[in-house]
Formats: sequence, C-alpha cells, structure tokens
Amino acid sequence: MPTDPKGRIEPGYDTHIFVCGHERNESASRPSCAKRNSLDLMRQLKLLVKASDMKNIRVQKSGCLDFCEFGTTCVVYPEGTWYSLEDSEAVEELFRCLKEGKISKKHLLKINS
Ligand code: FES
Repeated sequence: MPTDPKGRIEPGYDTHIFVCGHERNESASRPSCAKRNSLDLMRQLKLLVKASDMKNIRVQKSGCLDFCEFGTTCVVYPEGTWYSLEDSEAVEELFRCLKEGKISKKHLLKINS
C-alpha cells in the first residue's frame, strides 16, 4: 500500500482556495480572470501561505468559476466564501483574514443586481 510522502493519513485540507486562472481571447463576450492578473495574485497567495505556519491549506488555480464579470474570482472552502481579488493589497488582506480565521469582508464578491 502506498504511503503519502507528506505523512498525511487521510485526504483533504482544512482550507482549500481556488483562484480562477481562466483566460479568454480578446473577442470573447465575457472578461476573464487571467487577463486581470489572477495567476500572479494566486502565486502571491501561495507564497504567503507557504511561508506561514498554516500547513493544511491549499491554494490552486481553477478553471472559470463563472462569475467572470465581478473581478478576479476566488473561492475559499469549506465555508464557500467568494472573493474578488483586484490587486496585491486584496491578496494580503485575504491572507491576513485567513490567518485570523475571519472573512475579508472588504473583498467579498458582490453581484450587482
Ligand atoms: S474567467 Fe474567472 S470566473 Fe470566469
């Protein structure tokens, strides 16, 4: 039976963060997160997490999360909190809130209705 190289005994993470890395071409009818620098923002968040003491947290790129019009889309599970990360400052704020076990209210994804 295989053993996990990281010593884990069961699958899953305490916190699982998906940042949309989808990219559409210029003629597409909808915007895309990669064109708004989402991959750099995801890398920034990954580095912050890696350098921290938060060990059971996973940050990864996702495909389109289907909220393309509302900024660089990010979702945090298990709580299912959706964010719009517009810049590096937003990533730092999200990271600070994650460390404190809080929601970054300032960067919640808001749908204009
Ligand atoms: S392209 Fe990012 S949510 Fe659709």
